[in-house]
Amino acid sequence: MFRRFIVAIDGPAGSGKSTSAKLVAQRLNFLYIDTGAMYRAITFLAMKNNILVDHDTVSKLAESCTMQLEFIDGNTKIHVDGDDLTSKIRSPEVNSHVSDISKIAGVREALVKKQRALAAENQGVVMEGRDIGTVVFPDADVKIYLTATIDERSFRRAKEFAEQGKKVAVESVRDNLIQRDKLDSTRAVSPLSKAQDAIEVDTSNTTIEEQVEIILQSINKKLSKASDTKY
Ligand code: DC
Repeated sequence: MFRRFIVAIDGPAGSGKSTSAKLVAQRLNFLYIDTGAMYRAITFLAMKNNILVDHDTVSKLAESCTMQLEFIDGNTKIHVDGDDLTSKIRSPEVNSHVSDISKIAGVREALVKKQRALAAENQGVVMEGRDIGTVVFPDADVKIYLTATIDERSFRRAKEFAEQGKKVAVESVRDNLIQRDKLDSTRAVSPLSKAQDAIEVDTSNTTIEEQVEIILQSINKKLSKASDTKY
């Protein structure tokens, strides 16, 4: 047994965060939390309720709703107020609005509160997002910042859409990623940025196994300082 251990994994879309975070969590038997899914769910509801530009109402919705995240068969299932939004949050439409919703201070405040509450229930957590190592858990035990070239990231996201049966051109995925990178890293509140003490890993030319191994090595190094526990 050990005290609560938090692994923060940040980076831009398509950098390999989700794939490696899920595998690391599975290997350690830690809880996996995909914070992007939470911002996506609020974006979907804001689109559905036609309140995209009404920041106060969107913030109130983020604050008052009940979110449940479950990790089943390698995927994050997300329910908001009992409704399963899992298949609705990964569309090109949500992609094109999510950065605008993520920059709303009230939305971030509400979701960060929920993220900390989810983590508080578990001893081991792997949380991925944009601001986990900088804002949500500035004292995380291990901080990883993943990057990859824009071409590689666009190719990965287009492949994911194809696997879901959605035909989206690589060029349009690339345009959306460039736009989101810009908005996510220049917004006033909690912008995407590498924490000073994060380990940066460029995944452009690494296999998933290699990425997972690098992250596990950092965790083991940290754990071996605290105890003799090894994973
Ligand atoms: O990881 P993702 O692509 O599913 O995230 C979707 C959007 O959510 C991303 O463009 C920015 C936002 N996001 C954020 O602002 N902060 C987080 N911790 C996670 C995601």
